[in-house]
Amino acid sequence: MPNPPIPLILDVDTGVDDAFALMLAARHPDLELRAVTCVAGNAAVDQVVANTLYVLDTAGAREVPVARGAARPLLAPPHDAGHVHGPDGLGGFARPSDRRASSLSAVALLRQELLRAIGAGEKVTLVPLAPQTNIALLLRTYPEVAGGIERIVFMGGSASGGNATAAAEFNVWHDPEAAAIVLAACAELSIPVTMYGLDVFQRVTVDGDDAARLRELPDPAAQLAAALIDQQRALFGLETCRIGDAGAVCAVLDAEGLGVETFPVRVEVAPGLARGQTIVDRRTWTGDHRAQAKHVQGQGMSSYSATPAAPAATVDVALEVDAARYAALWLSAFGV
Ligand code: BDR
Ligand code: CA
Repeated sequence: MPNPPIPLILDVDTGVDDAFALMLAARHPDLELRAVTCVAGNAAVDQVVANTLYVLDTAGAREVPVARGAARPLLAPPHDAGHVHGPDGLGGFARPSDRRASSLSAVALLRQELLRAIGAGEKVTLVPLAPQTNIALLLRTYPEVAGGIERIVFMGGSASGGNATAAAEFNVWHDPEAAAIVLAACAELSIPVTMYGLDVFQRVTVDGDDAARLRELPDPAAQLAAALIDQQRALFGLETCRIGDAGAVCAVLDAEGLGVETFPVRVEVAPGLARGQTIVDRRTWTGDHRAQAKHVQGQGMSSYSATPAAPAATVDVALEVDAARYAALWLSAFGV
């Protein structure tokens, strides 16, 4: 008997690669996209809502509720990524939808869907592809929703370098406090976490031939995808275009295509060059951990400069990906 589709909620800042992720989540028969929540990130939140509605329209997923969330990070000022996604967040291809967003806020919609899942004896996979402001607010306001979360698979962070800064990946850098809160809450609430960070995000690509094949299809989503692929190839002067956030949705569908290792992860929230960096603790010798713990005990938490405020979450960190397999999986959502 075939497995039932995986219930899924995306939190997005649409965004070219968020659009790729929405198309896969809306189209793949093994996924059931229950809701999409929006947050400021790549573009202002109202633009993100408009883009999300439009992309879901093109994908034929007009029934999926979309809610507006946080218009800015918890503490930091907002910074868009118009230099990558264009001023409209969709590379110049944003169009209005005749549909309206939910009257619920993002946090209220997330709560509603997760409590409904708990009531039905189900669990939903939560996939944040954006700054984690909405998710931090949700988990701190309504921790009881944890029972409805199968796991969190988030795009963000890095075990190597950054993109927004030399040290920090954009989604975490945009709202480091939120990312730190989400990891701490996941540790406290026993929510399993997978980090689909820059180490793998950069590697899954499609090319101009794929765009040409998509453009031929009598399918508005495929044609939008083709236009976005070519816009990104032209912007970066590359033969290929990353599917980006869509890879995190591939990870929900096909865990075998991802190589993960489990490490404690924290977020640097202090001002300075490393703000927003995900500190992936890859140390294997327990002697170093014991020595650190001794320092903390001896000197008090606050006086030990390497001791962060929040507990580390134990995270499955994606370090390897079968890029060809994930690219093919993404294209399969269009029948290519
Ligand atoms: C992340 O930042 C955004 O610009 C992309 O949509 C992706 O979620 C990559 O750092
Ligand atoms: Ca994104």
